[in-house]
Amino acid sequence: MGFKVKDHYFKKAKKEQFLARSVYKLEEIDKKFKVLKKSDIVFDLGYYPGSWIQYTAEKVKKVIGIDIKEVNKKIINISNVDLFKKDAFDIEDISELGVDQKFDVILSDMAPDTTGIKSVDQDRSLALVEKVFKILPTFLNKDGNFVIKVFDGNDAQIFLKNNKKLFKSFNYFRPKSTRSVSKEFFVIGKGYQG
Ligand SMILES: C[S@@+](CC[C@H](N)C(=O)[O-])C[C@H]1O[C@@H](n2cnc3c(N)ncnc32)[C@H](O)[C@@H]1O
Repeated sequence: MGFKVKDHYFKKAKKEQFLARSVYKLEEIDKKFKVLKKSDIVFDLGYYPGSWIQYTAEKVKKVIGIDIKEVNKKIINISNVDLFKKDAFDIEDISELGVDQKFDVILSDMAPDTTGIKSVDQDRSLALVEKVFKILPTFLNKDGNFVIKVFDGNDAQIFLKNNKKLFKSFNYFRPKSTRSVSKEFFVIGKGYQG
């Protein structure tokens, strides 16, 4: 793997100085579902290289990102952004992120390293999704919003179905910029009830 397809969105991101083409997924989601607002404090899991951070920092009060990769120095100087090198599986409490209040929005574009073995990749992806759902009670404000990337599969569908009541609205969405070969889609939960 590891190749980059230099498609329309790749070129557009480069031209507009975004760090990844993924920015157009979040932009489309935000335009359609109105996830972000000016007063929000946002937590972005799996932020690297940081195109979602670049987009979100312009729209909200503060954004905090974690990733298992080294902190990206290209975006460390954005004044309302804090970045940490952390594994999502290790985080338990908001105090580990230097904040003392829950987040208004949680974003996760996390993706595991893929093996090419479908069942393994689906299991790894679902483990990330389950972890994010697990931290919602301690990390997300009541009525908060949520965007998470999911790799499609039977178990993922069952898990999501069992959890959809956590939000007032719970939508599945595949942005236009998602590569046709990709099995990913996004879940957008609005109005957290947990
Ligand atoms: C598709 S990229 C995110 C792109 C990003 N949204 C952007 O706009 O630049 C997925 C990221 O998830 C991160 N990731 C995977 N597993 C993780 C984990 N357990 N904890 C934190 N980050 C993780 C990867 O290191 C990778 O950087």
